[in-house]
Amino acid sequence: MKVRKAVIPVAGLGTRFLPATKAIPKEMLTIVDRPTIQYIVEEVVASGIEQIIFVTSEGKSAIENHFDYNFHLDAVLREKKKVVLGEELNMISNLIDIVSVRQKKPLGLGHAIWTAKHVVGDEPFMVLLGDDLVLSSTPCAKQMLNLFEEVGESIIAVQRVPEDQTHQYGIVEGEESGRERTHRVTRMIEKPAPGTSDSDLAIIGRYILMPEIFDLLGKTTPGHGGEIQLTDALLALSKKRSMFAYEFEGTRFDAGDKLGYLKAIVAFALRHPALADDFREYLEKTVTEK
Ligand code: G1P
Repeated sequence: MKVRKAVIPVAGLGTRFLPATKAIPKEMLTIVDRPTIQYIVEEVVASGIEQIIFVTSEGKSAIENHFDYNFHLDAVLREKKKVVLGEELNMISNLIDIVSVRQKKPLGLGHAIWTAKHVVGDEPFMVLLGDDLVLSSTPCAKQMLNLFEEVGESIIAVQRVPEDQTHQYGIVEGEESGRERTHRVTRMIEKPAPGTSDSDLAIIGRYILMPEIFDLLGKTTPGHGGEIQLTDALLALSKKRSMFAYEFEGTRFDAGDKLGYLKAIVAFALRHPALADDFREYLEKTVTEK
């Protein structure tokens, strides 16, 4: 059972980033020198996945264009002898096979994933949410795929969050699994009201799912916020077969939140081969001057 496909929902409106996202998709906001979504796609590629399925909506064509071959730009760069830049752009369009499906109505994350049902087919697949960036030595997706090779069941990426933030996440309750960093899921709740769960294990946007999830998503009624929630269908799946929550190694950034986005820019800039040294020096100087 190899995981070959990754679904990346990109249909959201990006209201948290208005007015920046009025005319451009939030996934195209830049972190240092590439759009947020490119980091996710690169993580998928580095993890050995073969195909990406974007779940899009109106106004998201910039994402498809970004990963497509741009004949005009390529010709201009060749003429100007900007070979390296031209090659980098071609590299982006050659990264991986990408297809898109359209979510016709904004009915929630669960509905967005369900939209990809026919393209995924009857095989386990990965889901990655574009807001969650993870900096780690082994890509987060790869860590999960390694675990999947051992357990062969659905896996949800989690991290511990402070108690006063649990209501912002899907929360997983679990028990010992006998494996390091891994819990056997017993219950899950989307954005629990304070005091309704003791767990601090928050779902981060990386999942490996068994294909049965599609039928369950088809039966899921609107939940938190009146939306069809992936978490609710996951809870149903966890009652039918084993499911694991995995505390990945690495630092996660919520790039869909303004402060998280700024932190991501700083962290990724400090890792950028051409910028890291100068940027670190600048930061150190600025901090010392204060
Ligand atoms: C979604 C999921 C939630 C998860 C979160 C992680 O929520 O529904 O379970 O904890 O992503 O980023 P959203 O942030 O889209 O409201």
